[in-house]
Amino acid sequence: MHIQMSNIHKAFGTNQVLTGVDFDLTGGEVHALMGENGAGKSTLMNILTGLHSRDQGSISIDGQEIAFSSPREAEDYGIAFIHQELNIWPDMTVLDNLFIGKEITSRLGVLNQKQMKAMAEEQFSRLSVSIPLSQEAGMCSVGQQQMIEIAKALMTKAKVIIMDEPTAALTEREIRKLFEVIDSLKKQGVSIVYISHRMEEIFAVCDRITVMRDGKTVDTKPIPDTSFDEVVRKMVGRELTERYPARSPSPGETVLEVKGISGKGRFENVSFSVRAGEIVGVSGLMGAGRTEMMRAIFGLDPLSSGEVWIRGKKVSIRKPDDAVKHGIGLITEDRKDEGLVLDFSVRENMALPNLFSFSSKGFISTRKEQEFVDTLVKRLQIKTHTTETPAGSLSGGNQQKVVIAKWIGIGPSVLILDEPTRGVDVGAKREIYQLMNELTERGVAILMVSSELPEVLGMSDRILVVHEGRIAGEVKGSEATQEQIMTLATGGQ
Ligand SMILES: Nc1ncnc2c1ncn2[C@@H]1O[C@H](COP(=O)(O)OP(=O)(O)OP(=O)(O)O)[C@@H](O)[C@H]1O
Ligand SMILES: [Mg+2]
Repeated sequence: MHIQMSNIHKAFGTNQVLTGVDFDLTGGEVHALMGENGAGKSTLMNILTGLHSRDQGSISIDGQEIAFSSPREAEDYGIAFIHQELNIWPDMTVLDNLFIGKEITSRLGVLNQKQMKAMAEEQFSRLSVSIPLSQEAGMCSVGQQQMIEIAKALMTKAKVIIMDEPTAALTEREIRKLFEVIDSLKKQGVSIVYISHRMEEIFAVCDRITVMRDGKTVDTKPIPDTSFDEVVRKMVGRELTERYPARSPSPGETVLEVKGISGKGRFENVSFSVRAGEIVGVSGLMGAGRTEMMRAIFGLDPLSSGEVWIRGKKVSIRKPDDAVKHGIGLITEDRKDEGLVLDFSVRENMALPNLFSFSSKGFISTRKEQEFVDTLVKRLQIKTHTTETPAGSLSGGNQQKVVIAKWIGIGPSVLILDEPTRGVDVGAKREIYQLMNELTERGVAILMVSSELPEVLGMSDRILVVHEGRIAGEVKGSEATQEQIMTLATGGQ
């Protein structure tokens, strides 16, 4: 299948998002689509697959002009789309999620459970996924949900598969498996559009790359003819200095200390401390229990035993409110669930938890609030039409930035960040690191869970490695290596 998109224009209301994009996809190629948050990558693919209409431009497939009026139509034509924001039905089983709207029935209309199970199992084993099909999908980790979405797309036997940030929540092993599958799809002539902010992956798996900036195509090139630096330069339109801004840590008193905390079946007897001005990285494989630990410390889940101490005093945290009162902030890995109210505006989302600091004698200072919002929107380069735009209509990466801005405003003394840069582009990543450094200079203690090893190594003063719910080891940030962390994370010595 050969797809040609030419001179595509698109505006949402008065927000002009695409202004003349060209993109072509040939049979059996893996084509990377890169660009900063809000550049228009997801929108372009939504136009191709009929979720959005275009204002101008043409799309042809194998020389024939085409316009799908719905994603379903595109899928019937052989184009599958694995979305950036997962579409999992949490109350339904894994199996039902895989076949939703595509149930296999007998001639009498009875569901053919046996055949669906067999198909699902075949797909799962191809991806080395082991999730019980009868499990409620909502019980699956974000990584597992991503694998369900991938399996679902593969089952459609599509000729073109669009993968929008497929690996953001996957483990190294799952990523390797996905790459093997991509390779074999390629050999069968399937084309893939691969959207990601992870440069290493793009160069490992893609054949060509198209870079977008501000709703336009900047360039399309074969991967061997370009380099990391060139791609970054084209994406951000300027040279970018080093990826991780230098830190000069001078840790103060111990702010947060957990002593022998356990959460039923999720983590056991975990002890560690974080000092003022320190960044402690928490590394480990997906599903090792890192997120669960952080949720429990913040009062989202109960602790079955153990103690949490703040500045040398034992505290009782039963709900997030208690944690906030003790100066703890949490940026979750799942922004849709806990971080963001999609119907609320960017301003409301950022200012909501900070109302207190903007009010004096009970009156909220709208000017102070607006100043705070404007400063952070600028700082983090949050791409939003206005600060009154609903958060739900921002691009994925920009939503993440709003969540971060919101917590920075509260000024916590302990900030827990769970995968803070997931889906965030290189320029904004660096801005987030810079903000972390500024916070620690002001004495904030930071605990950062991250699955991106370069990030953990680049930003942490100390690194805790979690394996199967326990701390498997601690290493110094400046001396640690990827191999060392991987060994500890997989249960080695
Ligand atoms: N349904 C919508 N309504 C209004 N504006 C939208 C809608 N979808 C996208 N936009 C706007 O279009 C622009 C491009 O968004 P898009 O999601 O395509 O970016 P992206 O390149 O995929 O970014 P990211 O890397 O963050 O996922 C953004 O400014 C976004 O706010
Ligand atoms: Mg996107």
